[in-house]
Amino acid sequence: MAARRPLIAGNWKMHGRRAETLALLAALKESLTVEHLHNREVVIAPPFTSLEIATQILAGSSLQLAAQDLHWEPSGAYTGEISAPMLKDLGCSYVLIGHSERRQYCGETDEHVARKVAAARKNGITPIICVGETLEEREKDATLEVIARQVRGALSGQDKTAIASLVVAYEPIWAIGTGRTATPAQAQEVHAAIRATLASLTNQPTAEAVRLLYGGSVKAENIDNLMAQADIDGALVGGASLQADAFARIARFQ
Ligand code: PGA
Repeated sequence: MAARRPLIAGNWKMHGRRAETLALLAALKESLTVEHLHNREVVIAPPFTSLEIATQILAGSSLQLAAQDLHWEPSGAYTGEISAPMLKDLGCSYVLIGHSERRQYCGETDEHVARKVAAARKNGITPIICVGETLEEREKDATLEVIARQVRGALSGQDKTAIASLVVAYEPIWAIGTGRTATPAQAQEVHAAIRATLASLTNQPTAEAVRLLYGGSVKAENIDNLMAQADIDGALVGGASLQADAFARIARFQ
């Protein structure tokens, strides 16, 4: 199996003015040293308004930056939007795409997600594509079907090389911000199914190269058990990423 470099990403959502960004990143820089980070990647996704100051404070550190969204056009009359070249200019190496909150509150569809994935790729930014089922879908036993549809939709138009380099985050909606984490076995089942979908779109070696993150109430207390699963290659962390100690412990998972 190809070695997949673990990736821990913190999604700050709509939290943090610049002063708070500075304080949190300074604390993280202090608790996550080069030794901690030599065999894993740690990525922070602050709000757009904090990206520039985050780039400054993270200069020379191994922590990387992500944006929480982007628009698919490079520029134009799209009031309020931010493009991939702008994110590149600010030093973002990753971008979250299709988070369930954007699908729910901003009407984002699989087609929008696919266009955003293409725009990020074209500009050398690695997409972290978020997928996840609602509680109702899980209770109807439709989880694997919903996830396969979202993965296929997000990747339409992408070739093998592109797919091998991107990241998929499985975030069951019922686990986001609820304190109710999927069990390691529930997460592993969906991750294995995502890998099978990826293999059907490409081939087994390509599917084995893709990093799959779990998200949904990841905490210091549950990260080690989640990371012990064969197909869980990292985590996308919301609430706990706003506390330096908790996030540093998650990033230092065993
Ligand atoms: P949570 O959020 O860790 O607060 O559940 C995860 C996410 O929405 O990415």
